Amino acid sequence: MLLIHNIGLLQTPVGNTSLGGVSQGENRKYRNASVLIEGETIVEIAHDGTLPACPPDTERLDAQGTFVTPGWVDAHTHLVFGGWRQHEIPLKLKGASYLEILQSGGGILDTVRQTRQMSEDELFSRAMGFLDEQLHFGVTTTEIKSGYGLDLENELKQLRVIRRLNEAHAMDIVPTCMAAHAVPPEFSGRTDDYVQYVCNVILPRAVKEQLAQYCDVFCETGVFSPEQSRRVLETARSLGLGLKIHADEIDAIGGALLAGELGAVSAEHLIATDDAGISALSAGNVTACLLPQTSLYLNKNFARAREMIAQNVAVAVASDFNPGSCPSLNLQLSANLAYLRYRMTPEETLTALTLNAACAIGLGTRLGTIEPGKQADLTLWNTDGMEMLCYRMGTNQVRAVVKRGKVV
Ligand code: NIG
Ligand code: FE
Repeated sequence: MLLIHNIGLLQTPVGNTSLGGVSQGENRKYRNASVLIEGETIVEIAHDGTLPACPPDTERLDAQGTFVTPGWVDAHTHLVFGGWRQHEIPLKLKGASYLEILQSGGGILDTVRQTRQMSEDELFSRAMGFLDEQLHFGVTTTEIKSGYGLDLENELKQLRVIRRLNEAHAMDIVPTCMAAHAVPPEFSGRTDDYVQYVCNVILPRAVKEQLAQYCDVFCETGVFSPEQSRRVLETARSLGLGLKIHADEIDAIGGALLAGELGAVSAEHLIATDDAGISALSAGNVTACLLPQTSLYLNKNFARAREMIAQNVAVAVASDFNPGSCPSLNLQLSANLAYLRYRMTPEETLTALTLNAACAIGLGTRLGTIEPGKQADLTLWNTDGMEMLCYRMGTNQVRAVVKRGKVV
């Protein structure tokens, strides 16, 4: 058994389901608290200076009066890829847009070339380093999307790397097949044919080999239309996958409407989402997975988080780590931007980074809160609370991370 004691403030959302509206801002706060862990599971929380009864051989971890939250969950990353894209920045500074770079064969397609060239082992060891970095920033669970292979061999290669990462690393990892991330050069000008290939070949194989839990699609001007995205997602649903969608990242072409209509688990980005889109998310009970570092990096607006929360949409906040629009794994920076640019309260922000994020990847019953019965994933911080955490910027505020009941 492990007893984490002398916690100055323990703060957590409560429950197993994602929270929108007023509930998103309702966190439970325990002062002078301690948490008793048996194996990988939280068994008891005590507070106001009391301690749970525990056997004499219980291991103890002194939190030294600091702040503790559930381990953070990064519900949206593209963490397995080859190379970087630093050479795009001068082009962007000269005025080239994200979609122009993609349409000229760069952007995602540049990373596809670099990813196809790398072996499974090379991709694996690089990604292990990224996971170490995430953990160091207080993240204990992450989603990872494929989408830099864009053919059967290379999509499966990426997904196999994700499976190996999940087996090898302390973090829990949820795999998403995003073969519909861009149209590869072999199908240039034949987007419908590529959609058919994704539906008939890649998705069925990914499911058959049990390499994916979710399917995602980049519904965007010049990439996949809402109609093509619908085909991908309906096929994915018929194969038993959960549905995600990159919606309204650059243009509001109907991605949020589609997410609402299909009842996707989550819609991601939503930078350009209009009133009708927000209503559709609300009606479809879709979690909005917002990625504020991408807004910063692409010099775009920030998603309308306040309106979403007001309409009862559960908001999750993630990183979007990828080599093009967010070369950052630091989820604390997403917290800063959620506070400053989305105007979410520190409490809403914590829910967005823990329970709502866990629910967006299907893990809300096991992760995302500190409650008896949940998996013992906790982050200990060097701050006195969530307000300070959202305010301080640019330094890593993590003190220690406990994953499945072990200090890692
Ligand atoms: O979420 N928009 C599509 N996918 C990523 C970017 C991927 C890339 O540029 O390599 C995103 O922003
Ligand atoms: Fe993304």
